Amino acid sequence: MFSCIKGKELTFKNLVNGEWTSSESDQFIEIYSPIGNCLVGKVPAMTKEEVDFAIKSADEAQKAWRNVAVNKRAEILYKAADLLIEKADEMSSIMMREIGKDKKSCESEILRSADYIRFTADTAKNLSGESIPGDSFPGFKKNKISVVTREPLGVVLAISPFNYPVNLAASKIAPALIAGNSVVLKPATQGSLCGLYLAKVFEQAGVPAGVLNTITGRGSVIGDYIVKHPDVDFINFTGSTEIGSRISSITSMVPLLMELGGKDAAIVLEDADLDVAASNIVAGAYSYSGQRCTAVKRILVVDKVADKLLEKVKAKVEALKVGNPVDGADVVPLIDMKSADFVWELIEDAKAKGAKLILGGNREENLIYPTLFDNVTTDMRLAWEEPFGPVLPIIRVKDKDEAIEIANKSEYGLQSSVFTENINEAFYVADRLEVGTVQVNNKTERGPDHFPFLGVKASGIGTQGIRYSIEAMSRPKATVINLNR
Ligand code: NAP
Ligand code: G3P
Repeated sequence: MFSCIKGKELTFKNLVNGEWTSSESDQFIEIYSPIGNCLVGKVPAMTKEEVDFAIKSADEAQKAWRNVAVNKRAEILYKAADLLIEKADEMSSIMMREIGKDKKSCESEILRSADYIRFTADTAKNLSGESIPGDSFPGFKKNKISVVTREPLGVVLAISPFNYPVNLAASKIAPALIAGNSVVLKPATQGSLCGLYLAKVFEQAGVPAGVLNTITGRGSVIGDYIVKHPDVDFINFTGSTEIGSRISSITSMVPLLMELGGKDAAIVLEDADLDVAASNIVAGAYSYSGQRCTAVKRILVVDKVADKLLEKVKAKVEALKVGNPVDGADVVPLIDMKSADFVWELIEDAKAKGAKLILGGNREENLIYPTLFDNVTTDMRLAWEEPFGPVLPIIRVKDKDEAIEIANKSEYGLQSSVFTENINEAFYVADRLEVGTVQVNNKTERGPDHFPFLGVKASGIGTQGIRYSIEAMSRPKATVINLNR
């Protein structure tokens, strides 16, 4: 249905120990665009021996990297940020073809990543340790002091998802490197062209050989092997709850930082500004076809204002641009047919169980038209499952307490929004929601990137955000001075 986005076919190699290498297996994985199913390029399918070598190189290179001064590491990051900006146009064209995101959003993802990298360097340069006097603890005298500094962890395995292939790789690599770790990046296969391009940027910025390495290969083939690798000291994973749970069940004694799935609710109270609520909800739910962990994935609206909100949301969904990312569409074909089939199942289930279809409910291949359901009830899959597609259910509730109850029944706990003009009501709801972040009068979203970003329950482990990520990928080291007095 869609014609291919023009561009040359790319063959990328992996960065291992400072060299760009193909696989001895001579096997490649072909990457097809979600737009017109055209070949965008190919990446090597690495063998276990090659994976071993990449991780070993990272392990060895880290020994010297940990001793490089923070201000020197920061210089390399500043250079990487500058290069990223220089290459934003070429990189965003590849991203648009590889993952079907509109060009403007691709560019802003890359520029945001450059800001992230720069801010990471600034933050690390301003971090300080602490000294703790011993005599504050009962029974101790003034002769002991603990000098607390931070140490890197070693080799960080960074596994990134398809939907933000530059940003969610850069936001792992930069804090890991600045903290003195080496990194092995395993990008999502669909997104690996962007991931390898990003690695090239870091290499050109001066990251020494072995400090950043890449691994390509299907997660289903090499995933278990890499996460259980004995030389991996930390795993920083972003992706589905299914794969995240698998990793946490098969690894042992390796610290994990995970950003997983979500079912973010937008709770709309009686006194909300409904125009603000509707525009935030629609932007939050449908941009990049809802393929964002922080997309608004359900509306919980109190009965009294539900009809009015529906009218406003409907008008805004009707105005969305649907189609080809080349034309700047908001709603574009989903990443692959399997994802579209899954979203379709949720639509069919809601229809069969009596939800009222307001808009959409139709598809062409992997393009799902923006779909809005009213009167969704808690027996429907759409009330609980993450579609990762442009489908939004409205669940009507009698009051804020019912909204909180349904919001908290979810297995997920990434974010929630509450729309109200009353600060007391906002805090009443925010205090009771079991999520990492509550947005008052705004869509659910990750940025700004120095804020803490975390999911509770099935939405994640640990906390990201620039300073938080640096801290997560380092540990305190206490040196206790004992004075002879
Ligand atoms: P995914 O299928 O879980 O894949 C994520 C990464 O895991 C990819 O690099 C994938 O490689 C790899 N992988 C697959 N099987 C593996 C295994 N057995 N062991 C180790 N790694 C394995 O997720 P996705 O489809 O790319 O992304 C969508 C999901 O990510 C959604 O659920 C979304 O909510 C979540 N997400 C969460 C956040 C957040 O911040 N909370 C942000 C973005 C996305 P292959 O591509 O080679 O299979
Ligand atoms: O889906 C992942 C996520 O990182 C989105 O970021 O700022 O668009 O909410 P943001």
